[in-house]
Amino acid sequence: MPTEPEKTKRRKRPIAVRNSRIHGRGVFATEQISKGTRLIEYTGEIITWKVADHRYADDGSNGYHTFLFDIDGKKVIDAAVGGNAARWINHSCAPNCQAVGEGDRIFIESIRTIKPGDELVYDYGFVFQERHTPELKARYRCLCGAKACRGTMVAKKK
Ligand SMILES: C[S@@+](CC[C@H](N)C(=O)[O-])C[C@H]1O[C@@H](n2cnc3c(N)ncnc32)[C@H](O)[C@@H]1O
Ligand SMILES: [Zn+2]
Repeated sequence: MPTEPEKTKRRKRPIAVRNSRIHGRGVFATEQISKGTRLIEYTGEIITWKVADHRYADDGSNGYHTFLFDIDGKKVIDAAVGGNAARWINHSCAPNCQAVGEGDRIFIESIRTIKPGDELVYDYGFVFQERHTPELKARYRCLCGAKACRGTMVAKKK
């Protein structure tokens, strides 16, 4: 008797894009997510910073909003081109996710248990070649609302 071809089960992602209290749109858990779950890849066009700097003005005309994810200081993923839901994940100073690099690819993974309805957030940790002045930090002001909020999406310089 012919057997039915085995169906490849593709698990639906436990996340959804909704309006965020932090900023614009965000990504939320639709069910409980265990610590250490790889949730989504940060996809988009891989370009050099040189191309990105030509593509996007750095003069505050767009409120310093960005869909760019730095890969290695030279290359960057532009999620405005071919990006998926990962581009809506906001920053928090008390994150429940982290970005993990594998070559030129970036994945977002949970770093603790996340309850249904919680917003997924990771620490953008923006790093600049220039000095991290109070003005620069204010330009990337953080509205995450965490008790431990450092007030900026800019990383502490090591
Ligand atoms: C990859 S987008 C995230 C999606 C964004 N909420 C939206 O609706 O376009 C990154 C941008 O979102 C904003 N953003 C993300 N997290 C933030 C935070 N904690 N505080 C203030 N703005 C934030 C900043 O403008 C940042 O450049
Ligand atoms: Zn914050």
